Amino acid sequence: MQTSLTVNGQTREVDHDARQTLLDTLRDGLGLTGTKKGCDHGQCGACTVLLNGERVNSCLCLTAMHDGDEVTTIEGIGTPETLNALQKAFVESDGYQCGYCTPGQIMSATALFEEVKKGAPSYVSADLEAPTFDDAEIAERMSGNLCRCSAYPMIREAIAMSRE
Ligand code: FES
Repeated sequence: MQTSLTVNGQTREVDHDARQTLLDTLRDGLGLTGTKKGCDHGQCGACTVLLNGERVNSCLCLTAMHDGDEVTTIEGIGTPETLNALQKAFVESDGYQCGYCTPGQIMSATALFEEVKKGAPSYVSADLEAPTFDDAEIAERMSGNLCRCSAYPMIREAIAMSRE
């Protein structure tokens, strides 16, 4: 079957099996291997992308259900030559060790900033009118992204550095 996706600003027609996940479409169908496959069961966050601006685990999305949708992957927010501010902060903070989870971490943090801009309530602040955005808040909002190397303090530091 065929599905039309706008991936990183470009409309792409993809042929795929009806059961194919968005993760496999991105990696195998479109060659966008920056998005990683970890657990393939919605547990690790390595496959995080933005779907119509919201973060999702692409391993849990069926491509066939997203005709006409917009997808942003790690390749869509910066290049090795033109890292964005968040990507630079991960480099400067050593916000990775093996690097396998890093694309998912960065896409999740990208969504985190958008959520905060839109006024999403704090998970940890008692004052929902004036949410904090401290280390605990970052840890809570990033809890869907696992790092087997346990680089969590540096990941949180990178995100805190990038806060606008
Ligand atoms: Fe999708 Fe682990 S590969 S959550």
